[in-house]
Parts: sequence; structure tokens; C-alpha cells
Amino acid sequence: MKIILLLVTSVTLATSLESQAPEWTFTLKGNSGIVALESIIVSPTLALFFDRASDDPLQINNHSAWGALWDLQTSQVTPLDVTTNGFCASGGLISNGSMVSVGGFQKGFPGNPTIEDGTMGLRIFESCNDPAGVGCTIFEDPSKLHLAERRYYPSSIRIPDGTST
Ligand SMILES: *[C@@H]1O[C@H](CO)[C@@H](O)[C@H](O)[C@H]1NC(C)=O
Ligand SMILES: *[C@@H]1O[C@H](CO)[C@@H](O)[C@H](O)[C@H]1NC(C)=O
Repeated sequence: MKIILLLVTSVTLATSLESQAPEWTFTLKGNSGIVALESIIVSPTLALFFDRASDDPLQINNHSAWGALWDLQTSQVTPLDVTTNGFCASGGLISNGSMVSVGGFQKGFPGNPTIEDGTMGLRIFESCNDPAGVGCTIFEDPSKLHLAERRYYPSSIRIPDGTST
């Protein structure tokens, strides 16, 4: 008899926890045209995505894009002209608000011949004032600005004085 009472109590408890649990749902708001393999919020209205370079539908300069800005207010996507391969890169925000993405994978992988070697990649997105991201770009100059070593699947963290990642 005691056991039966305990069972009833636990079922009642589970039911009442369920009804109090915060609820959430998925809402399909649009199509980003690339996969957001890496994603970071770079302003109150914009998320920045990096993808592996493939044959995704979002196009820029006559090739599939592997970078984009997603407008959180309008659910519109803007392709970014990324040069180097950010597949399995890492990154973060540095103290002046710029996003820095570092490392990645080799030229052409996995299937877009226009992508350049990103293993020493260093990609900068400066804080962008336009809420829709108009005119905001990724800065890269791989021959002059790159990591000192090749890095695939790196980790990165902002160091305590905030000067760097
Ligand atoms: C894209 O391709 C079209 C048609 O081949 C060509 O006219 C145009 O110049 C190309 N644009 C770029 C940015 O390469
Ligand atoms: C922030 O720092 C990065 C890296 O030094 C630099 O490229 C960028 O121009 C700086 N942004 C601003 C707004 O000063």
C-alpha cells in the first residue's frame, strides 16, 4: 500500500513540473543559404556565420559563399566575401569589439576550388554600425596578416588584459 502511494506522488510531481517548465519552439524564419557551422553575434541585430566552402545556394562573386551576415530583425542574409577556408576555425571578440576568426583548413576543401588555404587564416570583422550590415565586410590579407603557425581546430580565448584573442 505504501509503495502504491509513493508511485502516485511521483507521477503527480512529474506532471506538475512539466506544466511549469518553460516552453520553447523552433520557428523557421528564412533561409541562410549557407550552413552556420560557426556563428557569433556581432551586434544587436547581426549574427556572423562561417560555413565550410561547398556548393551552398548563397552566391557571391559567381561562387558559393562560405560567410554571411544574418539579420536577426528581418531574417535576411547578406553573403560575405571570405577569402580563406574557415572550416574548423575558432575565434571571438577582442576588446575593441572586432571579431577575429583564426585558423581553418586547406585550400579547396571540401569542394569549392575558389577557397584559399585557411590554416594560418586571420579574419577580422570590425564592429559594424549599420543595423542591417550594409557595407560591413570581413577583412583578410593572407599574404601580410596571418597566424605564425598552421592551426586546424584551434581554441581561442581573450587574454585577461583584453588586448588579443
Ligand atoms: C559573373 O559571371 C558573369 C557571367 O559569366 C560575368 O559576366 C561576371 O563578370 C562575373 N562576375 C564576377 C564578379 O566575376
Ligand atoms: C580593433 O583591433 C583590430 C586588430 O588589431 C583592428 O584590425 C581593428 O581595426 C580595430 N578596430 C577598431 C574599431 O579600432
